[in-house]
Amino acid sequence: MAFPILTPQEAAELVNHDDNVGFSGFTASGSPKVVPNAIAERAEKLHEQGIDYKINIFTGASTNNWADGALARANAINRRTPYQNTPDLRKRINSHDAHYFDLHLSELAQKFRYGFYGDMDVAIFEVADVMDNGEVVLGTGVGNVPTYAKHAKKIILELNSKLPRDMYGLHDIYMPLDPPYRREIPVFKASDRIGAPTVKLDPEKIVGVVHSDSYDGIKGFTELDDTTLQIGANVCGFLIGEMRAGRLPKTFLPIQSGVGNVANAVLFGLGDAPEIPQFEMYTEVMQDAVIELMKLGKCKFGSSCSLTLSDKTEAEVLSNLDFFRDKIVLRPAEISNNPEIIRRLGVIAMNTALEADIFGNINSTHVVGTRMMNGIGGSGDFTRNGYLSIFSCPSITKGGLISNIVPMVSHVDHTEHSVDVLITDQGVADLRGLDPVQRAHKIIENCVHPSYKQLLLDYLKLGKGGQTPHTLEASLGFHTAFKATGDMHNVDWSQYE
Ligand code: COA
Repeated sequence: MAFPILTPQEAAELVNHDDNVGFSGFTASGSPKVVPNAIAERAEKLHEQGIDYKINIFTGASTNNWADGALARANAINRRTPYQNTPDLRKRINSHDAHYFDLHLSELAQKFRYGFYGDMDVAIFEVADVMDNGEVVLGTGVGNVPTYAKHAKKIILELNSKLPRDMYGLHDIYMPLDPPYRREIPVFKASDRIGAPTVKLDPEKIVGVVHSDSYDGIKGFTELDDTTLQIGANVCGFLIGEMRAGRLPKTFLPIQSGVGNVANAVLFGLGDAPEIPQFEMYTEVMQDAVIELMKLGKCKFGSSCSLTLSDKTEAEVLSNLDFFRDKIVLRPAEISNNPEIIRRLGVIAMNTALEADIFGNINSTHVVGTRMMNGIGGSGDFTRNGYLSIFSCPSITKGGLISNIVPMVSHVDHTEHSVDVLITDQGVADLRGLDPVQRAHKIIENCVHPSYKQLLLDYLKLGKGGQTPHTLEASLGFHTAFKATGDMHNVDWSQYE
């Protein structure tokens, strides 16, 4: 090994207060595991001595409990972007201990290169292999490694012995030129390879290699409940209808599917539907369901930024790479989520909403308008540019105290213009070609839980005209009723009549 071997603690000493730090990976997949944890321990010790120590963290997406989790518990995060999902960091963000700016995942790499966020002091990359010339084979997630590698002043590698060296060939590393020199990105099929299998790091920048030995730490999925299964069935039914109507080619189009149980249910549903032909994914994360569908021959190829797999499935894939190698490509986030490619390929975008309003706007990020949940992630990259953009969510949450369909969303991530179809456990609202009032009636009729239908029809009746007949004083009535009484059913429209 041409590079010094460091302990995690020695590596952590190389990361200074207020440094801009870039992590490899995308979700927990491919994120560094031992050095961030050691940085958190160091921060705790410094804080005990009254010494300031916080770093600014740039990633591909969310990370893991050893990185975001440990660093947030140590209150060692100053700035953070573009996405997170750990409960401890969520708390720090919502109490302003950590300054989080939420960003479309496709945009961070280029904005970093444009110089919008300053220099990168240190990059910490998890790798499957490192060669003496500085070339590395990445792990299960790519994220923004090519850009962070280019800009980092020093690089620390985590060489994870759980990752086999023969991951070589799974990645396709490509960095577009920046304006005014950018050309088309030549991906014309989900399976096209346009770059290199490795990232070529400047060996002069590699300050040390730390050994690690751990899978990504992702738990398996919980048993699907009736609501999730019904949403999955409704999405599948809708897509089959589109094929029958000739609005989707018989050969199908590449699918993007968000994270979580609903996404998994939809994929299993597609796998079970005999009418759906073999399909490809052009997506940012591939979960366990995709691997099952690959084994069944239903999913023939997956282009992704990460393999976001439970530890059990990760171990299975990594020990059967000969089977999976020609079925998977892992790309940097700015390519997996690239608007140009998504639009060219005609990707079917399927994402999850926290809440939707009756006019078709979507809140993906803020609980009751104020508290950050995770972030917009890649949902905007795919929604705005997809061939067809579908949002799904349950019709009610917290045992019915919350309606996921409200008069006006309390925060907007995706506007009415980008949302083609809304799907809940109750049914499907196809919003294409409808004006706002028509959309409202369709959503109330097809997607809203029966216990909230009349309340939303009554809200519509309050409107005194305009293309989108809101009653502004009442438009957040569901949310204010929930805050005041803990139940959205307690909204009282009579005061606004
Ligand atoms: N108001 C208040 N709370 C709500 C709510 C609403 N309208 N809808 C859901 N919640 C609560 C749930 O009760 C749950 O709370 P709990 O943690 O106390 O149980 C929590 O929010 C998460 O809800 P859940 O239904 O389990 O969500 P999910 O796991 O399906 O995730 C998103 C939904 C929107 C949070 C998630 O998809 C996300 O972060 N999306 C943005 C990023 C993205 O879309 N990426 C896509 C490309 S991968």
